[in-house]
Amino acid sequence: MYSKLWLNYEAKENGAIVISEGFDTSKPVYINAVKELLNAGILSESTIRIVKACDESLGEEGYILSNENGDYIIKANTEKAVIYGSFRLINLLRCGEKLSVSKKEIPANPLRMLNHWDNMDGSIERGYSGSSFFFENNDVVINRRTEEYARFVASVGYNGIVINNVNVKQAACDLINDRFIDKVKALSELFDSYGVKLYLSLNYAAPIEDPAVASADPLDEKVIAWWEEKMKYIYSKIPGFAGFLVKADSEGRPGPFTYGRNQAEGANMLARAIKPYGGVIIWRCFVYNCRQDWRDLKTDRARAAYDYFHNLDGLFEENVVLQIKNGPMDFQVREPVTPLFGGMEKTNQMIEFQIAQEYTGQQRHICYLIPWFKEVLSFETYAKNAIGNGTTVKDIVSGRTYKRPMAGMCAVTNTGNDYNWTGHDLAAANLYGFGRLCFDPELSAEDIAKEWIALTFGSNEKVVNNILKMLMMSWPAYEKYNAPLGIGWMVAPHEHYGPDPDGYEYSMWGTYHKANHETIGLERNSTGTGYAGLYNEPWASCYEKVETTPDELMLFFHKMPYTHVLKSGKTIIQHIYDTHFEGAEDVEVMNSLWQELKGLVPEDSFERVNGRLEHQLYHSKEWRDVINSYFYRKTLIPDEKGRELY
Ligand code: GCU
Repeated sequence: MYSKLWLNYEAKENGAIVISEGFDTSKPVYINAVKELLNAGILSESTIRIVKACDESLGEEGYILSNENGDYIIKANTEKAVIYGSFRLINLLRCGEKLSVSKKEIPANPLRMLNHWDNMDGSIERGYSGSSFFFENNDVVINRRTEEYARFVASVGYNGIVINNVNVKQAACDLINDRFIDKVKALSELFDSYGVKLYLSLNYAAPIEDPAVASADPLDEKVIAWWEEKMKYIYSKIPGFAGFLVKADSEGRPGPFTYGRNQAEGANMLARAIKPYGGVIIWRCFVYNCRQDWRDLKTDRARAAYDYFHNLDGLFEENVVLQIKNGPMDFQVREPVTPLFGGMEKTNQMIEFQIAQEYTGQQRHICYLIPWFKEVLSFETYAKNAIGNGTTVKDIVSGRTYKRPMAGMCAVTNTGNDYNWTGHDLAAANLYGFGRLCFDPELSAEDIAKEWIALTFGSNEKVVNNILKMLMMSWPAYEKYNAPLGIGWMVAPHEHYGPDPDGYEYSMWGTYHKANHETIGLERNSTGTGYAGLYNEPWASCYEKVETTPDELMLFFHKMPYTHVLKSGKTIIQHIYDTHFEGAEDVEVMNSLWQELKGLVPEDSFERVNGRLEHQLYHSKEWRDVINSYFYRKTLIPDEKGRELY
């Protein structure tokens, strides 16, 4: 069993009449669109005309929705756009929209993707909502649930999914062999029939396993020929296959560096092999030294992606897209935006976020991430030589700034086999919200949340207001009781859950805070690792100096005395104490808001969220007390307000 999430409307014949003008009505994606229209209660007895638009401005995925004399009109150029338009029509009407003015919607991002980190044994790397629904016992699963998932994804406008973990191991290597290729084909067709392209993560090291090749050197003729053969095979089986996501030279995985080659040489070798078939290689930039000596003060993990990729700008094949994490470290609750955005002009780029809440409460804490993503996307990069409009992150990743053909947004997804798909009922807001944000990054986090609440819980005013408040205060609250002022990483190693201030301090992962009894933080300006200087001006100068560095990133950029007074007027130590007490109090507020909804939201949902809130109440206090006590013990500076420290 599974929840119907935001598509929780009764599926029944509704007496609607659908008239098609100019479309190929035999295409599976079109048939599915019509099926949705005929099943949505809100359209009962309506007439819906689906009209071929022949309007270049709509592209392949845009649509116009309107209401003419009571008839609903969906105009689009392609069958695929009809399915996005159909879902949108249904959801708009369910949110109370009357369509008195027509709506023209064109996705801002060409690629709008989810990355599953699902393993073939059914486990999910960083999964917090049960096991995989794609794989089980080293086999591929295709069932009713898979189709339901395709509906959810299409209904908010995602157009691509990568189904297996970026760390490709064991049976996952066989997804591109005879063993599983027919099942991958079936999955690919299923998702295609909802307008969603299927991608696989690829094992860069695969030819090493073939004794006749025994190498993965991208310049080795045998390796090149091996991949050419492989691509030929894959496309003979799945002609419309979209392409691959690759994690190479990362966290122990082999890659071009293993052979003294650079990242472009690695990516291009695969890109050339797949090019004849129209496929794409999405190459991750999460490359850094994960065997650092913590005594080494010169190496700075934050610099790594920039240092490895920036100089290769313009050297990548046209069918390569670099997938770049939003920050320079790894999905912390607060990081600066990576300087790679704004640092490359001639390379296809997309941004990688994480809605799997690895570092943001693992779907046991409420953490609505869309406000954070909005901040990142709105960051002005001051990129030079722009040929299109705008130089914020969202302009760059949508391809607008440098008129790049391939670009977009993706997120490591938060789904699994749990009844509610996302572990925490309220975490579905991130799955819904990220799709909407990919489609239209101009939408506000509040508006996205309101839509999701209305579709999921209905339009009762109290329900909408209370859940909206809970969602909107959740990321700030989590940041408050987590590691302070951008320093990150005060989590239990490996599991990444719960406070452990020194957990990563003497490790090899390059994630240090360097706290002693007087100071904390890293010097990342010109007197330190020089990381601040990687940004375009005026950011480089801004982050260079303490006076101009924003409070929330102070410890990321500077080693500071605890007695330093922030722009807020508080000392760093008092800021730490205050935010940690506030964060835990915020959870009390969220809890009261939820308690008021008893009887107004479905009982099972109420209880599930209740259970998680109970844990969050306890665990936010754990964070508060461990972090505050850690700093009190280091500094022996008492809390101005005399609250209890241990
Ligand atoms: C993090 C995460 C890993 C993951 C990696 C990645 O380090 O903890 O589980 O494999 O990111 O993005 O590749």
